[in-house]
Amino acid sequence: MRTDTPQTIYRKDYTPPSYWVDTVEMGFDLDPAITRVATRLTMTRNRDSRNKSLVLCGEALELVQLRMNGKPLTKRAYTLHDGTLEIFNAPDKVTLEIETLTHPDRNTSLMGLYVSNGNFFTQCEAEGFRKITYFPDRPDVMAKYTVMLRADKKKYPVLLSNGNLIEEGDLGDGRHYAVWEDPFKKPSYLFALVAGQLVCQEEKYTLQSGREVLLQVWVEEGNLDKTQHAMDSLKNSIRWDEERFGLELDLDRFMIVAVGDFNMGAMENKGLNIFNTKYVLANPRIATDADYAGIESVVGHEYFHNWTGNRVTCRDWFQLSLKEGLTVFRDQEFSADMIGTDSGRAVKRIEDVRVLRQAQFPEDAGPMAHPVRPDSYVEINNFYTVTIYEKGSEVVRMYQTLLGRDGFRKGMDLYFQRHDGQAVECDDFRAAMADANDRDLTQFELWYSQAGTPRVTVDTHYDPVGRKYELTLSQSCPPTPGEDRKLPFHIPVKVGLLNSHGSDMPLHLEGHAQAGTTMVLELTKEKQTFVFTDVPEQPVPSILRDFSAPVILEIDYTDVELAFLMANDSDPFNRWEAGQRLAMRRMLELTRDVQDGHVLADDDGDEPVLTESFRAMLDATALDSAFREFALTLPSETVIAEQMDMVDPQAIHTVRRFLRRSLASALRIDWLVAYQSNRTPGTYSPDAASAGKRGLKNLALSYMIELDDIEAHVLAQTQYDNANNMTDRLVALTALVNSNAPGKVAALDTFYNEFENEALVIDKWFMLQATARTTDVKAVRKLMKHSAFTLKNPNRARSLLFGFCNGNPSQFHAVDGSGYAFWAEQVIALNAINPQVAARLARSLDRWRKYAPVLQGKMRAALKQVADTKGLSKDVLEVVTKSLA
Ligand code: PHE
Ligand code: ZN
Repeated sequence: MRTDTPQTIYRKDYTPPSYWVDTVEMGFDLDPAITRVATRLTMTRNRDSRNKSLVLCGEALELVQLRMNGKPLTKRAYTLHDGTLEIFNAPDKVTLEIETLTHPDRNTSLMGLYVSNGNFFTQCEAEGFRKITYFPDRPDVMAKYTVMLRADKKKYPVLLSNGNLIEEGDLGDGRHYAVWEDPFKKPSYLFALVAGQLVCQEEKYTLQSGREVLLQVWVEEGNLDKTQHAMDSLKNSIRWDEERFGLELDLDRFMIVAVGDFNMGAMENKGLNIFNTKYVLANPRIATDADYAGIESVVGHEYFHNWTGNRVTCRDWFQLSLKEGLTVFRDQEFSADMIGTDSGRAVKRIEDVRVLRQAQFPEDAGPMAHPVRPDSYVEINNFYTVTIYEKGSEVVRMYQTLLGRDGFRKGMDLYFQRHDGQAVECDDFRAAMADANDRDLTQFELWYSQAGTPRVTVDTHYDPVGRKYELTLSQSCPPTPGEDRKLPFHIPVKVGLLNSHGSDMPLHLEGHAQAGTTMVLELTKEKQTFVFTDVPEQPVPSILRDFSAPVILEIDYTDVELAFLMANDSDPFNRWEAGQRLAMRRMLELTRDVQDGHVLADDDGDEPVLTESFRAMLDATALDSAFREFALTLPSETVIAEQMDMVDPQAIHTVRRFLRRSLASALRIDWLVAYQSNRTPGTYSPDAASAGKRGLKNLALSYMIELDDIEAHVLAQTQYDNANNMTDRLVALTALVNSNAPGKVAALDTFYNEFENEALVIDKWFMLQATARTTDVKAVRKLMKHSAFTLKNPNRARSLLFGFCNGNPSQFHAVDGSGYAFWAEQVIALNAINPQVAARLARSLDRWRKYAPVLQGKMRAALKQVADTKGLSKDVLEVVTKSLA
């Protein structure tokens, strides 16, 4: 907490550390009220540094003792202010002994050492290690760690840290100890310890090389029936990284620990991954298909960090996407490979692009827009963003699109050959990709240095006499904070051309050898024309197949062309995209009607093209159910809002509902057939095929419930009563709650009572009410008074507050401004408890400038109210200041 103006850190100011740390020895006397930490560091002066003094970071610590090379340091030998401890005139070789005290049970920020449900956990990324001891807490300082944990044996029977357990024993007086040694050098942000009452599922696993490793998943007692999926996902991850990238687990022991209080999804600490329970615990009773998929991808993500993040780490935090973008790309590819089929891969791709459009495009167009490799920050925690993660992954994916799978693999191999054991920059990754493939990727750097989503527009011309087809692509990128003008990007644009029968034409690009029916055009200039020859008839172009670049594609299709692509495109991504465009166009038209005061009547719902394409898709039973589910889902309210110059949340909500109701009634029989024929009787399995069936069946239910008639009520109630898994249960309950079904209140109650002791399910219970149509601010305030609600637990706070502020736009943006007043109150309350979570909630008003003037004024007032609050963390201050700028 601070009152002065926080400092901005710039990438250009990077200087190497003045000292390297060779070894770290730590002793912890774990006690929730006061934990004593004794640290011994051996350090060597860095000859490349001009800074003569030894600099350590420390925050919220009580310094008990400080000794250098065996002698206590007098107060005159160092300064200590603003979280920095500076020792002047230190010798070239230093052994520093530091004793500090911390108060884990008072640590609600969940950074550093904290207590959750009576057990000890740590979180050190990005800058949490400095809350444990004084240290050069920056990722380019890598050291070997040996850690001794001491604690009460009854209260804390399990003592874990990174690496290998080398010793354990009794200390008498009811206490015991364990010594852990991590054989690999690591930055401080990868340090971890866990202590408490935990149990584990463990398995021995044989690597491809024949070496045997020990795998453990640690949870609280009573949760051992929920660890199998995480364990399976871990084994699949290990095998996948060996097969796809030739990367082997380098430790003899790999542990995952689940904790109920956690700011993020999970953390890749070396050999001791710490996970939000949400991404570990699953069984059919409590977890949905989405939860199972989320666990697989996060377990994969953290495991893959062992190479992309830990073995090769970041030089500084501006390079965060070096590890995050790359590791998201790897986890996306892993999940796709686990489904295995081509159509399954496509569905995964669509899902990932949906996330990008829903969250990253708005970020890139708003006040917090920043490049994949930012140039400055105030609080690094604010830069764990969808841009760093998801856009970063798209940037990595573009290398693969440009270089091919094999070329990409060659680049990865060279990257590890060059940089194993080092802390490097995004540029080093790009250089490895370029050098391994003998390609010039200079212009590609702009993807790292320029923020904003590029727009690519398409113009076409067909010459029937010369049988030539011209495709003209132009690019531009709107200004973002601090960047008025942009240079053209290097954009891979995958294209195909459809003939009038809907099949792909062979492609002859002028001056190129024939390249099959899909090829990657490289757009590097502001405007470029590509000429195809031997084109027998006017084609329908399919542009940006597989979403080959994170851009907004502007192309004029007629409704008929879109319906044609939706029915025929061989590229499943663009097939889905065509339907989304068709629906989006219609929704924007209707929104304008509503804004013009037109009351939507039933015959406004007469949408021949849209309805017939949806019917065709619904009846195309040869296609994967999962694909059909996505193709039949209308763009979300948030995605529609991004398309409007002035957002009108109520009009959007009205129109989307109206269109859903029209489609429900026009296709009533088809929905019912889809519902009946996609049941998954028998034992629950979360595999992609079964999950896809449930997805389509449940989408059908969600359409039918729009009609709010007895038939739909009975369907939902029956599904709720008979479900043998959480997916079906939760969808049925959501349907009931968003209808006038007589059983809705009772269902909410029985659900709560049945799952009272399952925190993750109670989160769902809050979330589904937070996002329900009739839930207004008053209803949210009432839910906050529920005995199960607490702001202290991030999952719980997210389910209700984020659920409402981000997931219920028409209510949150109530014209009286009550949503904004509520938001300000909660940001301020959370700020005092957990600045990171508060700063995330603070982002809910990012797009305030896109709303009608009346709403804008109220949003600005709420933002100002937060900005003017005393004792604001720099996390929240940075977000609201940038919003108001
Ligand atoms: N590095 C973690 C991941 O992406 C995310 C994280 C960041 C977790 C900061 C905690 C704190 O896997
Ligand atoms: Zn990560």
